[in-house]
Amino acid sequence: MGCMKPRVFSAMQPTSDSLHLGNYLGALVNWVALQEDYDAIYSVVDLHALTVSPEPEQLRSRTRRTAAQFLAAGVDPARSLVFVQSHVPEHAELAWLLSTFTGFGEASRMTQFKDKSAKVGESGTNVGLFTYPVLMAADILLYDTDLVPVGEDQRQHLELSRDLAERLNTRLGEGSATVPEPYIVKETAKIYDLQEPTKKMSKSASNGKGLIEILEDPKKVAKSIKSAVTDTGAEIRFDRETKPGVSSLLSIYSAIDGRSIEQLVEDYQGKMYGHLKVDLADAVVAYLTPIRDNAMEWIESPDSLDSVLDEGATKASAIARGTLERLYDRVGLLKPQRWR
Ligand code: TYM
Repeated sequence: MGCMKPRVFSAMQPTSDSLHLGNYLGALVNWVALQEDYDAIYSVVDLHALTVSPEPEQLRSRTRRTAAQFLAAGVDPARSLVFVQSHVPEHAELAWLLSTFTGFGEASRMTQFKDKSAKVGESGTNVGLFTYPVLMAADILLYDTDLVPVGEDQRQHLELSRDLAERLNTRLGEGSATVPEPYIVKETAKIYDLQEPTKKMSKSASNGKGLIEILEDPKKVAKSIKSAVTDTGAEIRFDRETKPGVSSLLSIYSAIDGRSIEQLVEDYQGKMYGHLKVDLADAVVAYLTPIRDNAMEWIESPDSLDSVLDEGATKASAIARGTLERLYDRVGLLKPQRWR
């Protein structure tokens, strides 16, 4: 791994048995593309997942399943580091340091926290959910990250990471932190729910029918697409305002098939919504099947998977230690004799 390449870091939470098409098209596809030219590090952020109080066995299983899907999608452990966040203790350590640089009001403005805590009510909310974006900033700053490929919903969190990096440089001196840039691809930054095409696809939204999961039965995938909500009128045209349903299908189609939206609109001129849905269902199933098969192979060989994750953690930890020591030194923590 050339140390001259700029660094990419990104992560996903192990909060579901399967990733969904939004995670895949909004982020994972770009992770795979960027590993060509960047020194890439990708993590399954299990500490973040603790904020929603998962069942212990389920969390463990989902941690492996999430990593398996990174690899199945094409993240190549020969080029990129893949690891589990809790295996690298520096994440929690830097999060503490960063929390002392984060304003209470600043953290209170995070809209994802406001939305989530509004859903469960104040009594169901924990402090971890509140400081979640600080842990995310730690993930990113630990590796002196240049670029963070994510979907649109992470933009505000990344803004906080940037502010914290700049603050470290101001207060502790230049070279304390690298200010990360978001990498958000406009066309796929927000994949919409198939039943409620004005809302983002998400495991917590809708009744599940609007969600396409990477590991689900292809028949179910096809069925969800065929029963996607479309709009009044019959014309196949891209217009997010007046035709959110059809526009959303066109975006997904374009992302997996390579044809531009304009080209698709031309190809479906005079055809009905049903035609588009049938073709899209076939295309999505064909696209996801090899990924699903490959992910299942990794899931069925947990020892091989764990070896990849162990190697990733060992290498990630070595990088993270260096950053943490630099920052511990700059804030004035006494270095233990055995580290000198
Ligand atoms: P998470 O686990 O919710 O989502 C993983 C990635 O999927 C993207 N995404 C979407 N993109 C397009 N359309 C959608 N409907 C859609 N739904 C999800 C997310 O933007 C994300 O890129 N806080 C992060 C995890 C995290 C992280 C980090 C990310 C922790 N530390 C450091 C980057 C860097 C999260 O909850 O993502």
